[in-house]
Amino acid sequence: MFNEKSKRRGRLFTASFIGLAAVLFAAGCNSGSGSSGTSGTTGSTGSTPTASSGDKVKIAFIVKQPEEPWFQLEWKFAKEAADKDGFELITSAATDGDQVLPKIENAAAQGAKGLIICSPDVRLGPAIVARANQRGLKLLSVDDQLVDASGKPLDVHHLGISARKIGNTVGTSLYDEMTKRGWKPEETGMILVTRDELDTAKERTEGAQEGVTGKGFPAANIYKAPQKTTDVPGGQEAAAVVLTQHSGVKHWLIAGMNDAAVMGAVRATEARGIKAEDVIGIGINGDAALEDLKKPQPTGLFGSILLQAKRHGFDTAEMMYKWVKDGTEPPKITYTDGILITRDNYKQVLKDQGLPG
Ligand code: GLA
Repeated sequence: MFNEKSKRRGRLFTASFIGLAAVLFAAGCNSGSGSSGTSGTTGSTGSTPTASSGDKVKIAFIVKQPEEPWFQLEWKFAKEAADKDGFELITSAATDGDQVLPKIENAAAQGAKGLIICSPDVRLGPAIVARANQRGLKLLSVDDQLVDASGKPLDVHHLGISARKIGNTVGTSLYDEMTKRGWKPEETGMILVTRDELDTAKERTEGAQEGVTGKGFPAANIYKAPQKTTDVPGGQEAAAVVLTQHSGVKHWLIAGMNDAAVMGAVRATEARGIKAEDVIGIGINGDAALEDLKKPQPTGLFGSILLQAKRHGFDTAEMMYKWVKDGTEPPKITYTDGILITRDNYKQVLKDQGLPG
């Protein structure tokens, strides 16, 4: 018997997994511009909405990395909310800081009344708030919390993950798997792919560090690998440096801010000829990592913390819609959690949620 919470989670995960395949396919032919369906998605090209959609509430959803499955899922779920509630969603990508204000301006010019944003540069927070105010847009940040010039979080409505707690789960799970494999801690190193300039990333990797050392892993064996870009190549390049510097280490644990960071580091171990059985990587997101979990032969990618993309996409969009339409203010801060999926249990997790394996 499912309780209410697990039923809700079931619905979320059902939608997530069905959505992922569709979204990954759609990604090939959708650059985030153009219109589709009743949600009337309008991209960065500035095309004008159709006349029939003129009376609809319009909400903009701007993301930093449209190529990442995570953000494609957020958009997909936001579009579901738009279809359900009858508002128009304007999806737009701002891949660097210079694009943020023009993209907000563009959305406002199209008549958007609400803005949901995961900014490529969270320090643009004050400028984003000022522009949203000037243009009469209600503002909600998603994933990455906006900060001021000194790095202090802004008082802006926000929905993000419980970053430190999820990081802790990564760390303790890495340690448990290391113990299961009978590795000696003194013969094991940990690659921590970091992105300290982004608070949610810092919280996640610090959490992973705490989780693993809390169980007794030697802090001296943890090697930070700062990533220059937050994609798979960025994780790979950062990890390659650590692997070169510590070529004598027998076994490796890997953590990072998300699946891309950890996948990159796993690819770096492969490039150095380190065997998959000597590597335990655990990502966060539960999207890109599925690719490795589904491979017939195990890779160094051991698992991932599956996040709730539907809450980040559907819930944020619906909260914004109600805020714009009825003046119902969303909670100031919402934190979401996740669940560890591994090669051993991911099919079962899918099945438990009523999904094909
Ligand atoms: C950040 C990361 C994404 C994803 C979200 C989850 O924005 O870049 O990959 O993990 O957080 O909130």
